[in-house]
Amino acid sequence: MIGSLAIVAPALAGLLPAAAAVAASAQTVSERNITPLACLFFGPTVSPWWLSKCKAHLDLVVIDLRSAAEYAESHIPGSFSLPFEPVSAWSQMGPGDLLLEMPPSADVFASLSAIGVSNPDPATKIVLVNGVGVPAFPQAASPRVATTLKYAGISEGRVSVLDGGFPGWTSENLPTTTVVPTPVPRTYTATEDRSFLVNIDYVAANINKKNQGIYLIDGRDEAVYNGSVLEDWALKAGHIPSAVSLPAKHIWNADGSWKSPLELLAQLRGAVGYGVSRSYGKIIVYCGVGGYASSWYFVLTRILGFDNVVMYDGSAQEWSRHYDMEL
Ligand SMILES: *[C@@H]1O[C@H](CO)[C@@H](O)[C@H](O)[C@H]1NC(C)=O
Repeated sequence: MIGSLAIVAPALAGLLPAAAAVAASAQTVSERNITPLACLFFGPTVSPWWLSKCKAHLDLVVIDLRSAAEYAESHIPGSFSLPFEPVSAWSQMGPGDLLLEMPPSADVFASLSAIGVSNPDPATKIVLVNGVGVPAFPQAASPRVATTLKYAGISEGRVSVLDGGFPGWTSENLPTTTVVPTPVPRTYTATEDRSFLVNIDYVAANINKKNQGIYLIDGRDEAVYNGSVLEDWALKAGHIPSAVSLPAKHIWNADGSWKSPLELLAQLRGAVGYGVSRSYGKIIVYCGVGGYASSWYFVLTRILGFDNVVMYDGSAQEWSRHYDMEL
């Protein structure tokens, strides 16, 4: 687990030298590390112990994204079930039957209101809980939903992901329940934010521009990127021209916990070198339908502090209908 980092990383993002992150990750997080001060640090990920100790002291809603059946079997006390599925509270079919597109923001507002998320005052914080599996689709659910919440106008600092997901919670022997809490509905409404979403025309205008610091990152597995495997939703094998490969499955450790910021930064540098930085150029993330793209969007913006990242939600599914892929 990288629990301690989960608490310290937000403070570190972009502020402290990388060496501090290394020192922090070497510690083990246990109950005694969670001081009242630690409860003030609400970073991109929180540890199970942080959630266990701090949830009573904050206006915080825990959302379980696993299936309804998994939730019914066992869940974190007080958490609400809003499963992440391609057609769900979090996602809908888009024009031309594009899988996994943003739902109407009013629907997201309604779902959040129903489970007691308020905005702006008091502004409820949200912790997302995912399952863990291979392939890493369950892990990718939380960053995808975090992206949907950003689109629904929730400022990013209000959303965090439970490190290691539900298995991370049970591995610490923290309590679970089958009791379904009764929500106290509140009012959530905000202005939709599409500023970080780009369409196919934007991508077409920005391929082959690495010399200007514009990089396309492909979050699918290596064999999909190189065309030896063709996924169901893409019409052609290969990747969007000039894209580099950065498989999202490497974001997590085998137990579903998040790799350290330093490891994630090393992966990014391995793929793009120093051709793009926080202060130079732009990164466009995409994948098959938009799930793994959200994972890198979350890592780059929330964990590594890049603000020059946009997401192509249409991804390979849409691109391959209109343009050639590169092999
Ligand atoms: C594509 O990637 C897979 C997985 O890494 C690898 O086994 C395969 O040899 C690669 N194929 C080509 C043509 O590069």
